[in-house]
Amino acid sequence: MKVGTQAKSAARRRGVRLEHAAGFFVAAAVIFFLYSVFQASLGGSGGGSGVSNGARALGFRSRTLINLNSKGQSASDQAEGSASPSPCPEAPVRKETVTVTKLVYGSTVQNPRAYHVVTTAAGFSNHWQARIHYYWYKKQRDACLREAVCDMGGFTRLLHSGKADDLMDEIPTVVVDPLPPEVSKNSTYIVLNRPYAFIEWINKVSIPEKYFVMCETDHLFLRPMPNLMNGEYQGAALFSYIVPWNYPNVVRKFIGNVSDEEVHRVPQIGNSPTFVSVDEFRVLAPIWYNTTLDIYEDKEAHDAWNWVLEMYAYSLATYRAAQNANIKVHVNMLAHPPFDKEEVDYEGKPFYLLHLTYPCRYDKDGNMTDNSTLAVYTFDKRDYSVKPPPRNLPEPPPFVQNNLVRLIVAMVNEATENIPCWDDYVATSKVAKCNQHKQNAAFLASA
Ligand SMILES: *[C@@H]1O[C@H](CO)[C@@H](O)[C@H](O)[C@H]1NC(C)=O
Ligand SMILES: *[C@@H]1O[C@H](CO)[C@@H](O)[C@H](O)[C@H]1NC(C)=O
Ligand SMILES: *[C@@H]1O[C@H](CO)[C@@H](O)[C@H](O)[C@H]1NC(C)=O
Ligand SMILES: *[C@@H]1O[C@H](CO)[C@@H](O)[C@H](O)[C@H]1NC(C)=O
Ligand SMILES: *[C@@H]1O[C@H](CO)[C@@H](O)[C@H](O)[C@H]1NC(C)=O
Repeated sequence: MKVGTQAKSAARRRGVRLEHAAGFFVAAAVIFFLYSVFQASLGGSGGGSGVSNGARALGFRSRTLINLNSKGQSASDQAEGSASPSPCPEAPVRKETVTVTKLVYGSTVQNPRAYHVVTTAAGFSNHWQARIHYYWYKKQRDACLREAVCDMGGFTRLLHSGKADDLMDEIPTVVVDPLPPEVSKNSTYIVLNRPYAFIEWINKVSIPEKYFVMCETDHLFLRPMPNLMNGEYQGAALFSYIVPWNYPNVVRKFIGNVSDEEVHRVPQIGNSPTFVSVDEFRVLAPIWYNTTLDIYEDKEAHDAWNWVLEMYAYSLATYRAAQNANIKVHVNMLAHPPFDKEEVDYEGKPFYLLHLTYPCRYDKDGNMTDNSTLAVYTFDKRDYSVKPPPRNLPEPPPFVQNNLVRLIVAMVNEATENIPCWDDYVATSKVAKCNQHKQNAAFLASA
């Protein structure tokens, strides 16, 4: 995984950051307003499920921009003494500057159920995915704020490359260090990055909300998402491929010689997307990190769980921390196209997030296929691991009978259409500072 773009010196840019960001948001506000009116005048949903109507769009909130660069001040002094209760190794957290950019618009802090969104990111694919992910967070949060009750609070991109990048002005970001070299002797330790990043974050930064949801850049917000916790207990997406009771003896290595019944109490979840309270997470995070290391070092467990071992580690850690019993596991939190086909789950409940991880590949008969020679239509995010996807990706042809695959493409297209200067971005992989997207100029003319 390579880190996408070189960061310019934050110090050098601090002076211009406010202006740029303010300019961007004014432009974004105008564009979004016109776009909402345009959409309303069409009476359509524009492919997304967050339908805006003209009257509501008039209630568009102005945004205040706050930039804080915490040199250990404002945010970081909180949790020094939050030791874990069990004999976990201390994750070797370094004492370095955390770079924080923070955008606040609207406010849901008065709502005690409000949650923060924390999305981990590092590397090139996460760079463009984060822009699309954040576009959909903002759009659905704006829709959420127009509803009577809105649980969606602030947003943080948790950038664990150790270096600020060129999205700092666009997306509220906290930069933390990657795994230190003494732990990451081997690049295959990459799955450990995520628990480590969260430990750094929880120890250094405080958020106004009591709860947060861990996210990844390839989760797109389909609609305003309520706080899906079970009271003070966690709420998590079901991952049907995490099946602890298929490995009872491996599982027992980590949770002790427990009964089959207990093995069945290890939840079918991963860390993301999962809602958790800050208080529970302070206890859980070091155990999650430790469990990930334990699994990594156990050959049998490592071989069994491999690329999802940090998900198993999270699930097992909730058991180790005695936080598993009341976790609410949601079928409709995260849709997995192409295996899910509609915007609702089998019970008719709406999905909240769209996971754009699986290749969507169809043959000429409209059947899914793994064989790229037979594929006549493909959307696969892995095709964009060197360059971001261009604007106007082709829609699936009619024989692809899957509304969610259609929706993925529509959502990616809508975001790339509305994020300024996407064409330059595709050409250079750098966030461009051009005046206006040519497509937006057309919008202005037609509005
Ligand atoms: C994690 O903690 C357990 C005890 O809770 C301990 O047995 C194990 O050695 C620790 N793992 C690592 C990698 O330190
Ligand atoms: C890193 O991991 C790979 C695959 O697990 C292994 O083949 C290699 O020997 C490891 N390298 C080091 C330096 O440990
Ligand atoms: C695990 O527990 C079972 C039943 O409680 C017992 O029969 C078995 O000997 C135990 N195994 C070990 C390794 O302690
Ligand atoms: C493709 O789908 C059609 C209709 O669903 C089915 O009849 C056919 O057997 C499938 N073809 C293959 C190769 O699976
Ligand atoms: C893919 O399909 C082509 C054409 O039918 C066939 O020749 C090839 O063996 C298939 N590849 C795999 C991996 O199945």
